[in-house]
Amino acid sequence: MPESNNERSNTESVGLPRHVAIIMDGNGRWAQRRNLSRIKGHRAGLDTVREMIRHCDARGIAYLTLYAFSEENWERPRPEVDALMTLLERFVDRELDELCEKNVRVVFIGRRERLRPGVLERVEKAIQRTKDNTGLVVSFALSYGGRAEIVDAARRLIDDAKADRMDSSKLDEAVFRSYLYAPEVPDVDLLIRTGGEYRISNFLLWQVAYAEICTTEVMWPDFSRANFDELVTEFQQRERRYGKTSAQLDQAPGGSKL
Ligand code: FPP
Repeated sequence: MPESNNERSNTESVGLPRHVAIIMDGNGRWAQRRNLSRIKGHRAGLDTVREMIRHCDARGIAYLTLYAFSEENWERPRPEVDALMTLLERFVDRELDELCEKNVRVVFIGRRERLRPGVLERVEKAIQRTKDNTGLVVSFALSYGGRAEIVDAARRLIDDAKADRMDSSKLDEAVFRSYLYAPEVPDVDLLIRTGGEYRISNFLLWQVAYAEICTTEVMWPDFSRANFDELVTEFQQRERRYGKTSAQLDQAPGGSKL
């Protein structure tokens, strides 16, 4: 793999989304269309995960968040859940050295209580080994739900208020945000969903408030670097108004609409 190109101040990265989040959908359908088991689809999806991390690093994206396993996914048949957990373990075992080499920082968001010991151990190891890295930040949403994240934040906030560690009269969006799973990761700029569906599926509900949503019919195992680049170009052609008018944005310093 080539050396990391992830320079956040790179002039080529003007107009690039700082934070890309991906709902990696379509593994099951990809497999079924080939008369393969759904698990083979997830395995093929893992190759795309590796490819996208390399590509985001090469393109100078600062933050990538991947929806690896939702709270709702626990309801899937046990063999599929177990296979997904095994894939996650394998991913860390095989990729951690390369992630470190590429200066990638690994973050996990989600409820850890239900994760089996082998997965938890890999999660902790990946976080620990990459915590001082300064390049691409890759967050894995694992046993994750957007509503659960907000409830968990509210619980911790109430605990802190009761213990006088925070002043509830000072509660505003910035304070609330600081209680999310990974407050250091900024809001999502570009939300990609593969597999031809148009849902948020309980993903990063707080953080997608002003995200641009770009979807593709391509199933996750087939999602390529070129597909990613097309969606980034689509993002760059959007006008992000944040509630303002187009004319107001033209008058802003630099006239930037991004
Ligand atoms: C959605 O496809 C995908 C998932 C529920 C899991 C995503 C997991 C991977 C890409 C592999 C492991 C990931 C990491 C980060 C190590 P689906 O099964 O809902 O597909 P379908 O809609 O076609 O049934």
